[in-house]
Amino acid sequence: MKKVFVKSYGCQMNVYDAERMADMLASEGYSETKAMEEADLVILNTCHIREKAAEKVYSELGRVRELKNEREAAGYETKVVVAGCVAQAEGKEILRRAPAVDVVVGPQNYHNLPSLLKKPRSERVVDTEFPVEDKFDHLPKPSKAAIRNRGVSAFLTIQEGCDKFCTFCVVPYTRGAEVSRPVAKILDEALRLADAGVRELTLIGQNVNAYHGEGPDGAVWSLGRLLHRLAEIPGIARLRYMTSHPRDMDDELIAAHRDLPAVMPYLHLPVQSGSDRILDAMNRRHTGDEYRRLIERIRKAQPNLALSSDFIVGFPGETDAEFEDTMRLVSDVGFASSFSFKYSPRPGTPAADIETQVSEAVKAERLARLQNLLEMQRQAFNHGTVGQTLDVLLEKPGRHPGQMAGKSPYLQPVQFESDRHAVGEIVTVRIIGAGSNSLFGEISEPGNQAAA
Ligand code: 5AD
Ligand code: SF4
Repeated sequence: MKKVFVKSYGCQMNVYDAERMADMLASEGYSETKAMEEADLVILNTCHIREKAAEKVYSELGRVRELKNEREAAGYETKVVVAGCVAQAEGKEILRRAPAVDVVVGPQNYHNLPSLLKKPRSERVVDTEFPVEDKFDHLPKPSKAAIRNRGVSAFLTIQEGCDKFCTFCVVPYTRGAEVSRPVAKILDEALRLADAGVRELTLIGQNVNAYHGEGPDGAVWSLGRLLHRLAEIPGIARLRYMTSHPRDMDDELIAAHRDLPAVMPYLHLPVQSGSDRILDAMNRRHTGDEYRRLIERIRKAQPNLALSSDFIVGFPGETDAEFEDTMRLVSDVGFASSFSFKYSPRPGTPAADIETQVSEAVKAERLARLQNLLEMQRQAFNHGTVGQTLDVLLEKPGRHPGQMAGKSPYLQPVQFESDRHAVGEIVTVRIIGAGSNSLFGEISEPGNQAAA
């Protein structure tokens, strides 16, 4: 059997796409390996969202080339594929700069991999045209064993691409226009996952709450409506979705947080900045106060909501006072977790052409201050759950013998002692301590809740 090594960078959708590639290559006779040096096929599934992404891929390809040469000297052939958003953005340039590469394939084209891999070695190919057909229709369904291997929590792509065109972001160019998958196809995949033991679905998409897929009734379904349907699937106990845009949090979606116990009280809703001028320059189409009011409305529907966000500091022209607006918004809203970045110009995006770029030193200083505040909020949130009783979805054995590890509704890792619970069960746990990255709990008696 031939072996494939897939390395994925960046977002959850790349993780999902890498799994689909592995499923597809399994039916071509490839088994997955975690060791690049024994792979007959190496796939780099790349990300283009932030700084020096392409340069990092080129330097990784340098290492891959050495490996390919070593294997060739030993009599083995290695095919090298660059997939993902750098493939989409760089295209032919990759073949020019990286002689080791055989195939460059975009995020919407990887269903063509089997035929691309069959081309003779002399024919190096680039496949990055946005196709008219739906790649999902050409991908094989994963086996039950493959699903089980990946655990009780699964990603499911429901939407791809983005039409928002935030001025800093490459996604609308690399992932293309927004497309929602039809409800029937999503349901089919969800049922299959549930049947193999999956308990938690995270619906993913670059702008997931813009979802507007065709329903089985011919009507256009929103994400709120889709969540209602998915919550009915036996075995599915938890639903999450990411990443959302504030402008697309409609009433139906907010109500789903109130009405559906399966929809977890956790929301990743990037705000990026707290300054109205910067938000406008970013083309975010909302103000800081609109975001604050939106959060109030969602918290009214789900008072336990834990909130997460992305932030960019040092967007071109950002003044000290505008950065302070971001700090103020963070203090006002309160975040349980977050991701924050220094602005980096992405070639081809409007913000990259703005002349007043912020210096590296100022960006670094602002990022440190923001991250300090966000880290304090994260720790405070985690410590706030000590003493509470939380449902924990068991994902794997814990670090030490006799321990189990799982996730709280707020996506916090939780460890506790148990020798009588199995992966996939949801157990009521009293939180007794908070470490820097996970919580510690003890089984709460009575009220243990077995898998449905
Ligand atoms: N510079 C810095 N951060 C960026 N992000 C997207 N583009 C850029 C950029 N050019 C961040 C945003 C987004 C997250 C996925 O990455 O915060 O929400
Ligand atoms: Fe990029 Fe998200 Fe803005 Fe779309 S909504 S352009 S993916 S930051």
